Amino acid sequence: EEIEKGGYDHFMLKEIHEQPKSIMDTMRGRLLVEKGIIQMAGIWDYQEKFLNAKRIIIISCGTSWHAGLIGEYLIEDLARIPVEVEYASEFRYRNPIITDEDIVIAISQSGETADTLAALKLAKEKGAFIYGICNVVDSSIARLTDAGSYTHAGPEIGVASTKAFTAQLAVLTMIAIKLAKHKGTISKEKFNSLLTELESIPVKVEQVIKDTEEQVKKIAELYVNVNNFLYLGRGYNYPVALEGALKLKEISYIHAEGYPAAEMKHGPIALIDENMPVVVIAPKTTHYDKIVSNIQEINSRKGKVIAIVTQEDSQVKNIVSQAIEIPAVSEYFVPILASVPLQLLAYDIAVMRGVNVDQPRNLAKSVTVE
Ligand code: G6P
Repeated sequence: EEIEKGGYDHFMLKEIHEQPKSIMDTMRGRLLVEKGIIQMAGIWDYQEKFLNAKRIIIISCGTSWHAGLIGEYLIEDLARIPVEVEYASEFRYRNPIITDEDIVIAISQSGETADTLAALKLAKEKGAFIYGICNVVDSSIARLTDAGSYTHAGPEIGVASTKAFTAQLAVLTMIAIKLAKHKGTISKEKFNSLLTELESIPVKVEQVIKDTEEQVKKIAELYVNVNNFLYLGRGYNYPVALEGALKLKEISYIHAEGYPAAEMKHGPIALIDENMPVVVIAPKTTHYDKIVSNIQEINSRKGKVIAIVTQEDSQVKNIVSQAIEIPAVSEYFVPILASVPLQLLAYDIAVMRGVNVDQPRNLAKSVTVE
């Protein structure tokens, strides 16, 4: 096992560090920048279906559900196809309306999650075209689907998903950009610039790990003993907040909630005092001014803000307790970069609290029973 950990203390840390490679592997052979194309057989073979789809329904659980939410923002924003994201466990039992004009996408690292598999079977029975985004080759979900795109993250051992999540985001981003091109909802120039930018993401992830790892450890030391955490984000970064909070709960056993930043005033703001750390994903993209005012609201209640900010953005830096910098990228790609320091934060706090990081209590890597 020590050999498999490749010199890292835990599989989770190894897997966090593997992300530049796992994202690159997931894009290899698909993102062909010089030819100006995204090659994805699963989409291309069924392009009529995708281009005429009335809507896309994404079903998944846990971290994969968070990837699905970001997929919703990406596909709706870029390709203008309506998307709904459902917990598989809710979808399967609520007599959902599905027709043969729907595309149902299941996202699952293991490809074996019982609820996702059952929901997918239901969708298939009702005539939907079913598509899989799985990491494990030849898994049950991969075999059941009509078509799909694998993530090539390699085996993920840590119970808390990290590299599978960012690989799922890479696939969803490619699907959204590809559909946008074929639907004509983005210009050729925008398509080309997104391709070039996406290609640079693995290097930027590498840079984020390098630049933030030591800093995040110091931040973890400051907050290791708190009992509650709040995570806030808007737009593309709302699901990032949910995922950041989930990572922390899973492995440190600290209660953490993720919230859309604007919803803070409808509840969580009541919790904020000097003992409440609030992680705010605050890159300099859309909604920037609004997120700045959310931070000011937290400050005026003496909350401690840890912000994920864009490099060289001093405005947020000056009003928060700690600022973690990520490179400037288009908002579509921020979730991949912003997730990395949040994974590290959860990891460091968990290690400091003495939790079995790779196998936290009560959790399973793959939930194959209801
Ligand atoms: C479990 C794992 C999570 C994972 C979820 C969905 O809860 O601990 O890490 O996100 O299942 O698993 P899947 O394999 O379907 O992505």
